[in-house]
This record gives sequence, structure tokens and C-alpha cells, in this order.
Amino acid sequence: MADGEKPLVRFGLEDGVGVITIDNPPVNALGPGVRDGIVEALEKAEADAGVYAMVMIGAGRSFIAGADIRQFGKPRALPKRPINDVLDGGTKPVVAAIHGYALGGGLEIALACHYRIAVPDAKVGLPEVLIGILPGGGGTQRLPRLIGPKAAMEMIVSGRYVPAVEAKKLGIIDAMVEGRDVRKEAIAYARSVADRRPLPRVRDKADRLAEVEADPGMFDAMRKSIARKARNQKAPYHCIACIEAAVSQPFDEGLKLERELFAELENSDEAKALRYAFFAEREVAKVPWLPKDLPLPEVKTAAVVGAGTMGGGIAMSLADAGLPVKLLDASPEVLERGLARIRNNYAVSVSRGSLTQQEMDERMTRIEPVETYEAIADCDVVIEAVFEQMPVKKEVFAKLDAAMKPSALLFTNTSALDIDEIASVTKRPEAVAGTHFFVPANVMKTFEVVNGARTSPVTLGAAMKLGRDIGKISAYAGNCDGFAANRSRIPFNLEQGLMVEEGALPEQIDKVMVDFGYPAGPFTVNDMSGLDISYDTRKRRAAADPNYRGLPITDRLVEMGRLGQKTGKGWYRYEEGDRTPIVDPEVHRVIKDVAQERGFQQRTFTDDEILRRLLFSSVNEACKILEEGKALRASDVDVMWLNGFGFPRYRGGLMYWADQIGAREVYNQIAIWHQRYGARWRPSTFLQEVAERGGLLRELKGRSAT
Ligand code: 3HC
Repeated sequence: MADGEKPLVRFGLEDGVGVITIDNPPVNALGPGVRDGIVEALEKAEADAGVYAMVMIGAGRSFIAGADIRQFGKPRALPKRPINDVLDGGTKPVVAAIHGYALGGGLEIALACHYRIAVPDAKVGLPEVLIGILPGGGGTQRLPRLIGPKAAMEMIVSGRYVPAVEAKKLGIIDAMVEGRDVRKEAIAYARSVADRRPLPRVRDKADRLAEVEADPGMFDAMRKSIARKARNQKAPYHCIACIEAAVSQPFDEGLKLERELFAELENSDEAKALRYAFFAEREVAKVPWLPKDLPLPEVKTAAVVGAGTMGGGIAMSLADAGLPVKLLDASPEVLERGLARIRNNYAVSVSRGSLTQQEMDERMTRIEPVETYEAIADCDVVIEAVFEQMPVKKEVFAKLDAAMKPSALLFTNTSALDIDEIASVTKRPEAVAGTHFFVPANVMKTFEVVNGARTSPVTLGAAMKLGRDIGKISAYAGNCDGFAANRSRIPFNLEQGLMVEEGALPEQIDKVMVDFGYPAGPFTVNDMSGLDISYDTRKRRAAADPNYRGLPITDRLVEMGRLGQKTGKGWYRYEEGDRTPIVDPEVHRVIKDVAQERGFQQRTFTDDEILRRLLFSSVNEACKILEEGKALRASDVDVMWLNGFGFPRYRGGLMYWADQIGAREVYNQIAIWHQRYGARWRPSTFLQEVAERGGLLRELKGRSAT
């Protein structure tokens, strides 16, 4: 600590209780100096005859959110003594007083304390696996001893944040803090246990480990259950190996294995990519030109216009976050159908156990169906979610302009339409912004905020904040066709169709992408959403533009009634009541026929060519989006792909992945395809510049934002 700086760890004495306060804002991560500070305080208290017990507590909003993730992968000084060794060797009881979050190394310290108490809204967890590592501070050895190997494995392998009330039931927390003053109650608790001996050390507990005898197959069962989701990853399997060691080996041997496997993972490709994704998801929230202290309007009431699938999903998102929502539709039948769909969606969650009946009832009562614009006039924010057609949207916005109170925020949920044109029918274009929800709106995390030419900073800031408040990841985009997310994805979809014309089979392309890490291949996804989605648009475009080539194979399948899963046939065929795609020779025949009719040359493709053609086309487009200043950062595009398009998280994102190949190689390949396939592969000048200077694509910033 330099002179005049606030200490990272404070020690104070109160009523014979030594209070160790960790004060490293914003979340008390175990950054440089914090561990040594804690050890010094513990040693001081141990040596002080006037101290009978200790409390460890976090200043500010959390206990300890874990190791400092920024330090991983860098050389760093080892702490003078490991905190947990000091705790294990101590002779006085230490109580961890948990509020906010106790995560990773933070929970591991709490587990090495003798007692843990928590406020009811605290959360605890060992989320290391989410950043590609494992709990490296004894968590894999102590947690199974405390709550049993099965529950510990579920927590560690999922990385989920467990609410304190559940943690108490599991046995992680000894007592709940009833009042508001955590510190005071922790001191009282510490005094109440000061004389109890022996000190309860989790490392000495063995009874819960015996559970494995009744269920020796639990480890293999867990490996099997994660096989699909965790493919290509090491961390979840290493977590399981450590917990297996906890039940089969002495504590110190288990710790040794934990240390070894932690060291192996820290610099693995998956850990690097996942760390990148963690910070990219925090960066995306920041719009550089918006002052941090910009006063934003409070949003206490919301309205959604349009009770279709999209409007219903948006209303659910808002209601899930506790906002009262008025759902407006002119047609009582559509409203009734919309509400029934919402009720049904919630009922599915209740039947799966992810929602209680009471929560469902509360959420349903927050959604009020209304039929007039007057009924929503007082709402703080309105999100329009009507048909994706400009005249319809304009009509709604003219009505909103006339009806809504002057301070209302007017948002449009569009995935492609021009925000400025929509805003132009109002007398308050500064209050209009785009809020692009992904489908299904109540589930998907990506929330693209589209800044119109006249959107005010306050409206932009309020839209970004609304997304965060309803649990989404807000990402800025400029106003252009498709905005940032869909626009960067469109070339992928195009190449997918073109490669089939050139001879690649849908099942080959799907397999390449699933092996790469996608949950499902693009043709399987097409079958889920329906092949007819853009059929009319393509026909209209073809009628208006003789050079428009469309997607002749898809169109042929649609004309044959192969619309996807809903008709039992699409790119694949499906057995009654089963969603497993089955390769269908009829599709192969259609592909050959259309290719012959149109004179497409067919050939074979390597898997690598398929992967690169799909993803490079999107990398190039993302660079163009940045070039035009329609996105703020390349890493924002990665966040959109991770949370909106199923891109495998352990590969970091589209641009991060491209950097693993190298900008120069990506550029060279695109330049070759530009020669071969023409204008659609014109390389982005941003890409060319990065390739020439040997930089990283993921560090690109949008032009206007630099
Ligand atoms: N290390 C470094 N920085 C961290 C951090 C950590 N563990 N946790 C959060 N931060 C930073 C964020 O990057 C952000 O910085 P910024 O303001 O400069 O962008 C700031 O703290 C606030 O974070 P959030 O915006 O995420 O704040 P929220 O209030 O939304 O969420 C949180 C708080 C739930 C604690 C969330 O930040 C989180 O989940 N953090 C990660 C926790 C984690 O993974 N811990 C395990 C670390 S690994 C470990 O402990 C290894 C051990 O086993 C040895």
C-alpha cells in the first residue's frame, strides 16, 4: 500500500472480536495485496490475547467475488502464506459474514473459516468452470466434505450462483442474518461461538463423503450427462476428477491434484477464451461518450404494443424483472391468444420446476391486457413489437406520439428496419431508439440497442440500462440494415445456402458446426424456425430484380411443402413426435436437380473449408460494420454471437476465434475468394489494415467511436 492509499484489508477490535474487513472495490476480488492483507490480519488476531474470535467481512456490496481474474495468465507473486493454511492452523474461531457475493476464491476462504453466516439475498458459488478453470483454493476438497460429493459436484460443474437460503439448506451456511446490520450480527455470532472447541474445520469432516458408497456411479453419470454440452472442454472434467479425489484420497492429496489440474487449466485455450468473454461482456455495457453520471429517467411502468409471439416474449421479460406491463393489441382475440401463449410458457417453466406456481401467478398479474393507446399513455416506456413492416410500424409510432406522456421512452423492436424513418413520424425523434430482442425474447440474453441519428444520449442510456435491468446484455448498434448482430450473421447464412448449391450436403455442414461447438447445425436450426420464413420476401425481390438469385434449393423445398419440423420434413425428415433430424435422400435429389437446372457446378468440400467459408464471411462483414462505425467494438460483436447465435463460448466469439487463425491468413483467404466469387467477398479495409500491421481483430474499435 502506497502512502495515503486506503488499506485493502482493515483490522479492528470490538468486544473481544477481531473484525477483518476486505475493502477492494468494486467486488473485493483477491487482487494483489489482498491475500497478504488477510493473512497479516489473521496473524495479528491470533497473536493478540485480547481477541477471542474473528469476523471476516467485505466492505461495500460484496463479501469476496473471488480471485482477481485479470491476474490469471500473468506472472504473479505468491502470497506469503496461503490464507486457508493460516485458517486451518488457527486456534480461534473465524466467522465469515457473507453479503452480496461469495464466489470462487471468496467462497473457498469462507469454507476454510469455522462458521459461515449470510444475509438472505446473498449468493455463493464456485463459478471457476465458467472461466475455464477449477476452484483452486481447496474448494473441490472442502465443498464435498461439507455438503456431500453429489451436491458439490452439481454446484462446481455448473458454476451456478446459489442463493443463501438454498445454501443454508445444503449446509454451506450455518445461520442466516436476520436483521440489516451484518457486521453487528456477525460480531454477536462470533462471541456466541468463541468458547466452542474443537474448532469445526471442514477439512476434518468425513461423514458426507461416505455418500459415494450408496452411489458409486455418480462421477461417471455426471461425465455422461455433460458430454454434449462440455465437448471440446477440459475444465468440467477436471472438476469432476478433483471431487472424485476428495472421496478417495486424503485431504492433502486431493489438494495436490487440485493444484496440478488448476495449473494445467489456467493457460489453456478455453480458459483464455472464456476470460476474454467475461470481460467482453462487461465492456459491452459501456458507451464511451455517455457520461457515467448521466441522469436517466426511472422506468417503473412499461407497455408493449403487439401481443404476438415477440410482444408476448418481451412482456414476459419485463414482468420477469418485476415491472408492471400493459400489453396492447387492437384485437381482443389476438390479446387473448397472446395471454394464453404467455400463460402456457410460464406453465411449462412451472412443470419443469424452474418457476413456482406463486411466481407464475405474480408474473401473470403484472401483465395487463389493454386495447387502447389511452390506456398506456402514462407508461414510462413503450416497446413496439408489431409486424416487421415499415408502414405498420409508422402507423403505431404516430399513435404513440399522439398518446404517450411527454417523458415516455419510445422503443421499437425491429431486427432490421430503419429507426430514423420510424422516428420521423413522431415529433420527438430524440425519444426513439431501437431495442432488438432475440427470439425467444424472454430467454435470449442479447439486447441490441439501436441508436438513431436523432436518438438523445438520455434515450440511448435509458435503453442500455433497461436491457441490463431486465437481465439482458445490452449491446450498442448503429442504424443500418440488420444492425450489428444480424448484419454480421447474414453472410454466414448466405454461404450456407451457396455451399449446398456447390455440392456440400446440409448434414456435412451441420456436423462441421456441431463439432466446432454449436448446439445445433444451421440447417437443423432452419428446420426449427421454418424454411418459409423469408420465402415471400425472396419472391418479391426476385420479381423486382432480375439479377436477384435467391435461394432456389430452399424455395424448391418450400414449394414441396417441406417447411421444416412443423411439417415433419425440411432439410431433414422427422419421425412423428421426435425432433431428431434424419438424413433424407429426397433432399439430396432436390439439390442435384436444382443444381442441374441452374447449371451449378458441384464438388466436394473439406470440413475446414466449410468452417472457414461460413465464419470468414461474417468476420469480414463485422469488420465492415466497425469500419462504418455501426458497432463500438469487435468484442461487442463477439458478445452478440455468444449470447444470440449459439457460438461456442469456449472459443471466445467470432473475432476472437479469427485471431487464433490470424488476421493475415483470414485476409489472404478472403482476398482469394474475392477473386473467385466476386463482390460479396470484397475484403474490408479494416481487416486489411489489421492484417498488414499484424494486429488483433478483437481489439478493433468502431470508426466513429475511436
Ligand atoms: N476479478 C476481477 N474483476 C472482477 C471480478 C473478478 N473476480 N469480478 C468482477 N470484476 C470486475 C468486473 O470486470 C467489473 O469491472 P469494470 O467495472 O471495470 O467493468 C466490476 O468488477 C463489476 O463487475 P460486474 O459489472 O460484473 O458487476 P455485477 O454487480 O453485475 O456482478 C459479480 C458482480 C456477480 C461478482 C460478477 O462480477 C461476477 O460474476 N464476477 C466473477 C466471479 C468469479 O468468476 N469468481 C471466481 C474467480 S476465479 C477464482 O476465484 C479462482 C480461485 O478458485 C483460485
